[in-house]
Amino acid sequence: MPADLNALRPAVWPRTSGRTDGAITIGGVDVRDLAKEYGTPLYVLDEEDVRSRCRDYRAAFHDGEVHYAAKAFLCREVARWIEQEGLGLDVCSAGELAVALSVGFPPERITMHGNNKSLAELERAVEVGVGHIVVDSYEEIARLGYLAERHGSRPKVMIRVTVGVEAHTHEFIATAHDDQKFGLSLSSGAAAEAVRRILALPQLELVGLHSHIGSQITDTAGFEVAARRLATLLVDIKNEHGVLLPELDLGGGYGIPYVDGDEAPDIKVIADGLREIVARTCRLAGLPVPRLTVEPGRSIVGLAGVTLYEVGTVKNVEGLRTYVSVDGGMSDNIRTALYGAEYTAVMASRESPARPMLSRLVGKHCESGDMVVRDLWFPQDVSPGDLIAVAGTGAYCRSLANNYNYLPKPAVVAVSGGRSRVIVRRETEEDLLRGQL
Ligand code: LLP
Repeated sequence: MPADLNALRPAVWPRTSGRTDGAITIGGVDVRDLAKEYGTPLYVLDEEDVRSRCRDYRAAFHDGEVHYAAKAFLCREVARWIEQEGLGLDVCSAGELAVALSVGFPPERITMHGNNKSLAELERAVEVGVGHIVVDSYEEIARLGYLAERHGSRPKVMIRVTVGVEAHTHEFIATAHDDQKFGLSLSSGAAAEAVRRILALPQLELVGLHSHIGSQITDTAGFEVAARRLATLLVDIKNEHGVLLPELDLGGGYGIPYVDGDEAPDIKVIADGLREIVARTCRLAGLPVPRLTVEPGRSIVGLAGVTLYEVGTVKNVEGLRTYVSVDGGMSDNIRTALYGAEYTAVMASRESPARPMLSRLVGKHCESGDMVVRDLWFPQDVSPGDLIAVAGTGAYCRSLANNYNYLPKPAVVAVSGGRSRVIVRRETEEDLLRGQL
């Protein structure tokens, strides 16, 4: 049971958040004003938090590249912030690419991912001249060879290598063990075969290897094993083909704290560790050190985002717990239902002196799995009309949002320096009907 139900533990809340007159403020803006002006549920994004984490990453990987993984959360305004902060961008669909290009994001700083990119997606990537395309299958090598020839260009490609690391995270977001859909296996020789096939196509420029071992990983050992295996493959390629690949992309996956007691890796420590491992492996083989790229998504935007809800009903199930229902749920945050994710939630519009009661924060969808926070302590006086803030919802909440039960997706509001502005507007009933006969 937490000692103080009103406390905001800095590790899980946006960098600029605090309480003023009892209510939470983010970016200098009172959440009660946000709810009044924009309604609830509402995604609130702390601009300074996002930007400062971009800078932290750039400082930690000062001699390499940092690409923000768009899937965590992308909209036009966030793409602008990422561009201004000097990061690159990872996209994994024509849609994500279109958002980036629509704000003039430089294509050469974009990497195209995906285990089943369509021919049209590959063609668009080649046409606009994205900086890198990460190849994930043999079919794609052939398709890219054909497209490059047709367009008279020579795209830079990397190979996504499945390095055989069992990442300690939820099964659905672990991606480096052999039995899953991503990448070309190191142990089976598929990755080495992909190298041969690409080198046989002069219209493709093989520049490096890529690995992404999974997401929300807090034990750094997995990243280090992956880096070592990738660097070793680089050495093998030099020995077999006499070709020196200049780049290694180590993917993303760096975990963030969601609840009390969660540990999160320090990005500076990770950067130093990875650099050292790759440098040592290459030096031993007499090779120059390749340029390192990382692709953080969650750890750039996750903690910058907070979801604001309004309490609608409070139902005490005698002897069990109290169900606190809010005006959103699994349509704006499906992570609890999908991965058993845990979150921190507090009363946001006021502080309460009341004693804690065992509660479950639930949504308004027609499904009993519709939980935002499965188990939490809430003050006994929580009432309809109170605002609740859920921390750590900046990544993979809006991007996984859906319209289950025809709920409109909430707006995203950016806050900074005492001001707020809508960066993605709330969906309307009209939006929900659009496209239907
Ligand atoms: N690079 C690649 C190739 C990826 O596939 C991903 C995430 C990332 C980078 C960024 O990973 P991050 O730093 O954000 O962990 N929907 C899940 C997460 C799926 C991650 C997919 N790939 C969730 O809500 O936890």
